[in-house]
Amino acid sequence: MEKKNIDWGNLGFGYMPTDKRYVSNYKDGAWDEGGLTEDANVTINECAGVLQYAQTVFEGLKAYTTEDGRIVTFRPDLNAERLEQSAKRLEMPVFPKERFVDAVIETVKANSAYVPPYGTGATLYVRPYLFGTNPVIGVKPADEYQFRIFVTPVGPYFKGGVKPLTIRVTDFDRAAPNGTGHIKAGLNYAMSMHAIVTAHQEGYDENMYLDAATRTKVEETGGANFLFVTKDNKVVTPKSSSILPSITRRSLLYVAKEYLGLEVEEREVPFEEVPEFAECGLCGTAAVISPVGKIVDHGKEICLPSGMKEMGPTTKKLYETLTGIQMGRLEAPEGWIHPVE
Ligand code: PLP
Ligand code: COI
Repeated sequence: MEKKNIDWGNLGFGYMPTDKRYVSNYKDGAWDEGGLTEDANVTINECAGVLQYAQTVFEGLKAYTTEDGRIVTFRPDLNAERLEQSAKRLEMPVFPKERFVDAVIETVKANSAYVPPYGTGATLYVRPYLFGTNPVIGVKPADEYQFRIFVTPVGPYFKGGVKPLTIRVTDFDRAAPNGTGHIKAGLNYAMSMHAIVTAHQEGYDENMYLDAATRTKVEETGGANFLFVTKDNKVVTPKSSSILPSITRRSLLYVAKEYLGLEVEEREVPFEEVPEFAECGLCGTAAVISPVGKIVDHGKEICLPSGMKEMGPTTKKLYETLTGIQMGRLEAPEGWIHPVE
């Protein structure tokens, strides 16, 4: 299919409507058969559950053009599983896993003219989401839901691409110990808006959230998990029941161990330990791995030895190996790559 005339190399992380999106509706206890539509707008009642009580969950994954020109998606089955966990936690119906994967593939295929060509640095971001549609005024779950998927071509999440970021330790909490930090619910992002706006106003790229109960352990940022590299080259990532189980992070731990032969540790990370690390990165579908050069804790600067000019060497190897797998330059573990065509 002929590609759209888009300046692929200069895309930021923004929304651009494409030709087709997927819609399926849930009513009387069942999902309809679903299908593609050209209508980018959603029309719902003024009292819809999503509008009153934020009953909405979502996912994020990407489609890539490989070196040999195929279009593929990365581990969509894990996004389906996580959407299931998110839906259950907010008392929403589950959109079946096989249907989720098929719908992702159908939507990407229908928009293949928008999948950035190999080598442009851009990718197609895929956003599945699920929300309560019928009127709800007493606090209770909706009875009717809509599942949708749209896609949009994107460039790097952080301006400046892979330039190291400066982040701050925030006093705001992202997630309570038994709350919703481990699911991908819109409400987690609504409550992070003030923290990110004020971080940007103060010149920081992102926030480092600490655990809400003790404020002594590293959790995550508003949109990515942390990866650290120790001075003896171990990859360390925070373990917590209130952070999002990042698919990128899970994949990177496997890559570190199986492709790069590195030791990996998923464990609690006391904030006190941060000045000891050699490298730090933010990992996620949107962030891929974005290096962190400086962490500011209430005016006290922690400068990572990897510096403010480029990614640290281990972060770089992880980045190159993961993107190599996603773009088909390296052989993928079984089941990681789902062909679209
Ligand atoms: N943490 C948060 C809060 C996120 O929003 C995301 C993005 O999805 C991630 C981590 C990374 O998760 P994944 O690698 O599955 O995209
Ligand atoms: C993703 O990485 O897919 C996310 O959902 C993060 C979001 C902040 C853009």
